[in-house]
Amino acid sequence: MERKVVFSGVQPSGGLTIGNYIGAIKNWISLQDEYDCYYSIVDLHAITVPQVPKDLRKNTLEVLAVYLACGLEPEKSTIFIQSHVSAHAELTWVLNTISYMGQLSRMTQFKEKSRKSEENLNAGLFTYPVLMAADILLYQADLVPVGDDQKQHLELARDLAERFNNRYSYTFKVPEPLIKKEGARIMSLQDPESKMSKSDENENAYILILDKPDAIRRKVKRAVTDSIGEIKYNDQQLGVKNLLTIYSAFSGHSIEEIENKYEGVGYGKFKEDLAEIIIEGLRPIQEKFDDLMKNKDYLERVYKEGAERASYIANKTLRKVYRKVGFIQK
Ligand code: TYM
Repeated sequence: MERKVVFSGVQPSGGLTIGNYIGAIKNWISLQDEYDCYYSIVDLHAITVPQVPKDLRKNTLEVLAVYLACGLEPEKSTIFIQSHVSAHAELTWVLNTISYMGQLSRMTQFKEKSRKSEENLNAGLFTYPVLMAADILLYQADLVPVGDDQKQHLELARDLAERFNNRYSYTFKVPEPLIKKEGARIMSLQDPESKMSKSDENENAYILILDKPDAIRRKVKRAVTDSIGEIKYNDQQLGVKNLLTIYSAFSGHSIEEIENKYEGVGYGKFKEDLAEIIIEGLRPIQEKFDDLMKNKDYLERVYKEGAERASYIANKTLRKVYRKVGFIQK
């Protein structure tokens, strides 16, 4: 029986946060044994906001090293850089022609981003989710492990797959999102009502996977809580709820176990412990990352082999698409 296919990716638009880790990458690791996994560093998506070229190159390689340091294995998964597989851009064009302006303009992420950058609002931001659909559909993915914020984009990918299949006969597998209940939306440490994001102006709002221990201690210490003073998981204490989620993700303990452990204990001690748990959780990742960054030849080998494998599958789908829409075979 054929193995099911998994596709996911992260933008190399700066350092990755523990939100990216808990909401996405951490969940990718365990899928590697059971599924045929494709994990991409989506640089085409990253340029929808202005990037400094040399930083983009550096960030792309660093995200690759973070993937490997977190436990993705090139022997098991296909790990590649999106721009190395031209089929992504090509399928996007075709899918653009069946995408409705109305639906794209209702995308929450587009609305938010366009509010922030009204002056240089570019067409790439608008069609961003179409490129994302192309990523997924090229590999005939069954499952897409992502954080909660990508749910709407996944819905669009499903719609486009169905629309294309209806118009041109069955071509694409219709993908399902795989969103874990806990940790699907790690919140800002400064404003627990908004998502933790690497683009936050306040660097105390997020913890990066590569943050040094002192920075982690400082950020956790400053994390917004409340005046209730109890370590309980509920919607009246959004700050504490978020910290409990992070604690649980890094320690492997259930929320209930952690609540019990800290019954009658103050926020100070809880935060101190949490900082150490994050530091210890990230330590092996950071050590492996440092080693990998010393071995650029290896990284190059990984992304080159990944692109070759990915291209083979992606081009198979693209050829089918081109045939169905009526392009003459070259
Ligand atoms: P990006 O780069 O913004 O984020 C990468 C992954 O991290 C998740 N994530 C979070 N999860 C929990 N809490 C948070 N605070 C948090 N912040 C980010 C995201 O949900 C995502 O899973 N469009 C995608 C990248 C992409 C993609 C794809 C994903 C491009 N093509 C195809 C899946 C399939 C994005 O912007 O992710």
